[in-house]
Parts: sequence; C-alpha cells; structure tokens
Amino acid sequence: MAEERMLITGGQRLEGTVRVSGGKNTSVAIIPAAILSQTPCIIENLPNIEDVTVSVETLRHLGAKVIWEPRDGIMQVDASTINRTDVPLELCRRMRASSYYIGALLARFGKASVPLPGGCNIGRRPIDQHIKGMRVLGADVDTAHGTVVAQADHLTGGDVFMDMVTVGGTINVMLAASCAQGTTTIYNAAKEPHIVDLANFLNSMGCKVKGAGTDVIRVRGVEKMTSRRPYAVIPDQIETGTLMIAAAATHGDVTICGCIPTHMEALTAKLLEMGARVEEKDDAIRVRSLGAHRAITFKTQVYPGFPTDLQQPMSALLCTATGTSTVVEYIFESRFRHLAEMERMGARVRVLEQTAVIEGVPQLHGAAVEASDLRAGAALVIAGLMAQGTTEISNTHFIDRGYEHLEDKLSSLGAIISRTTD
Ligand code: EPZ
Repeated sequence: MAEERMLITGGQRLEGTVRVSGGKNTSVAIIPAAILSQTPCIIENLPNIEDVTVSVETLRHLGAKVIWEPRDGIMQVDASTINRTDVPLELCRRMRASSYYIGALLARFGKASVPLPGGCNIGRRPIDQHIKGMRVLGADVDTAHGTVVAQADHLTGGDVFMDMVTVGGTINVMLAASCAQGTTTIYNAAKEPHIVDLANFLNSMGCKVKGAGTDVIRVRGVEKMTSRRPYAVIPDQIETGTLMIAAAATHGDVTICGCIPTHMEALTAKLLEMGARVEEKDDAIRVRSLGAHRAITFKTQVYPGFPTDLQQPMSALLCTATGTSTVVEYIFESRFRHLAEMERMGARVRVLEQTAVIEGVPQLHGAAVEASDLRAGAALVIAGLMAQGTTEISNTHFIDRGYEHLEDKLSSLGAIISRTTD
C-alpha cells in the first residue's frame, strides 16, 4: 500500500472559530485508571486518535468490555471481566503510555507484566522513577528481559521522592497508590493539568487524592473504587497551543473554543512577546497577528513553564521571525529533528546539543519533508501553512497519534490541506 502523505499549500490566512478536542495525554492516563473501578465506568470527551484506539485494544486484550463511540468521544469500560495482566509488546510499541497499565493492574490485581517502552525519536525515556515508586509501595519489580514484571500481595502507602519531575512517573505512582493501604506522598510531583484531571477522576470513583497541581500529592488508598457518574476529560492543551501557533503563523484571526486559557499562559506570554495579539475569554482564546513577528528566546520546562510538546510547533513559527531566536530543550535530549526537515524548506538553523539557534528568514518554501514524531509532525504542518508552494509531509501516522481531525479543523479555517497516497 502506498504511504499516506499530507499535502499543504501554504500562504492561506487562517480565520474563524475552531473547537479543541479532549486531551490526548489525559485520555491515555484516565483510560487505564478505569481498570480500578469495580463498576462500569463512562468516560466522555475522548479524542478519536490513534493513542485512544491503542488504549481500547489494550483494555480488550486484558479482557475488559469496552464500548467505544469515536464519533461522540464516549467510552464505557467494564473492567470486571479482566482475566489477564500482561500487555503485549506490539501494543506497547504503538503507545508509550502503555506503562500506565503497570500501576493500574498492580493496584487492582496485584500483578502486571508490561514490556519496557525503550527509547524513541525524542530521546531516552526511562521509567526508573515509576519503578522506584512502586517498590516504595512494597511491589517486587523485575525488569529483566525487557519487560516490567511487578507483583505485590498487598501495597502499603509510603513516601516517594521523585529524582526529577516526571509526568508519567507521577501518574503511575498515583495509580498504584490508589488501592494501597494508607497514604502515599509523592514529593517533587509533576503539576501538569492532566495530573489534576487524573486526580479528579480517581476522586470521582472514591479515592482520596489531595494536592494534585502542586509538587506534593497525597493519595489515601481505598479498598474499592466505584464509578458513580460519567467523567469528561479536559481539553487538549497541546492541540490548543498548536492551533494558537497556526493562527499566528498565518497572520490569521482564530478563536479556539472549548479550551482552558489558564493552561496556556506560558505560550500566550511568548506569542505576545513576538507581537501577536492574544485575548483570553472564559473558555476560548482568540489569536490575531498582523505584522512581522519578533525573534524570542525560550526554554522548555515542566508545567507551568513552556511545554516541551509545543517547542517543535513554536520553533517552526520562529523560522520566519525577524532576528535570531534561541530555543533550549531541557526535557528531552533529541527533540530538534524537525528543524533539519525545515532546513529543506529554507529555514536557517544551528543545533548544538540542547540548544537551537534559529535565524529568521523572510519566507519558507514548500518541500517534501518527513515527520519523526507527533509534535515534529505538527511543527511541519505549521511550517507548511507558512510556506510558499506545496509541502508534502510523510509519516502522517505520527500526527494521527495525537491530533483529532487536524486537516478538517485547519480546512474549516481556510487552510488548503489534504491527504494523498498517489
Ligand atoms: C509525558 O511524557 C507526555 N506523555 C509527553 O508528551 C510530554 O512531552 C512529557 O510528559 C513532558 O511533558 C504523556 O503524558 C503520555 P516525563 P513522559 O516522565 O511522562 C526523564 C507528546 O508529544 N525521566 O515527564 O514520558 C525523561 O527521560 C508526548 O504528547 C527519567 O529519567 O515524560 C525526561 O527527560 C511526548 N526517569 C524527563 O524525565 C523516569 O522514570 C521528563 O519525562 C521518568 C522520566
């Protein structure tokens, strides 16, 4: 079968209103958390993306009954029929967040066997902190032969000090701690919005999580959790940011509705510094941009700092800013691959270890480029929207992992964007 590619004819000004989908990174944490409920559980506002499809396949592999309505974003999970606790390598390879099944299965069934995620196109992604946390709770965890095999007769709460701020580590330990006896305290916890969303979901099922959104989270485990009402996941902060950047990149006027503006402060501040206009409403953000953008410096940080997941789309925008921008990537070791592709489009970039220096050029031009990961794909879409001529992006499957109906949304705003297998 011929490989699918995305075609973008750049230079169109984006204009109008677009609705943001439910969050990818919160969905891939909340879906495995449904394993903890003794009663069927309904999750709403889930995005129809590849990572959610893989999550459904994972739950079904384990024996759960899942009804998934992608068009409505509603999923019903009945975990009472789960009859195995191993996740196959094939599913783990397709979704890095598969590691969350370790915490969820360990909490509910006292055992889990999940292949290690390994490295990926944005760098090393170890899970030593996840494992350390589970050991503190009393689990035996073995990682020989590339698989995490965890088991515990019973889990007991304890103090977990994270060596670095880790989103996945915080989530996995929260999941494992939810059924442990006593209280688990996670110090140096991640504060991302989806940590708070997961805490709210666990609390809605009877768990007692306090402090989510600060760097100390306390989880008082409960013997049984039951789902009492449908739970809607929060909007996707990274999709919101990608659309905000696309609006600025095309000198457009776009209102992104259904989002949470306070989650976007780091990006909003940088767009304002570049000369774009950003207006925040209760659940919408309007981004307008008229003149040239100014070059800026930014560093990726943990929330509420500038998110690494928006570094790639933002650095695409900087390729045509007036002056020289500096981008420092603190979270992942090789998250600049998209810049080499953008050089094919006329971008002027120098990368030295974790720092990229981007010298703005007046105009990018369309070229054939390849996405190396999800946000690299989003960055190339932004570059394609800005470029003169046609950009052809291959490896579109990366984009489908995390953006729901991206072409439809951008087309509705005036972009010329399509897919081809010719
Ligand atoms: C989550 O990844 C997100 N994924 C990523 O989004 C996001 O880029 C990242 O957090 C940072 O915000 C999901 O939520 C599913 P980390 P995660 O643990 O949990 C090191 C996207 O594009 N570390 O916070 O894997 C690690 O190497 C994706 O949507 C350890 O050393 O990130 C990294 O340098 C990509 N040991 C740093 O910490 C550990 O045990 C932060 O990683 C864990 C992490």
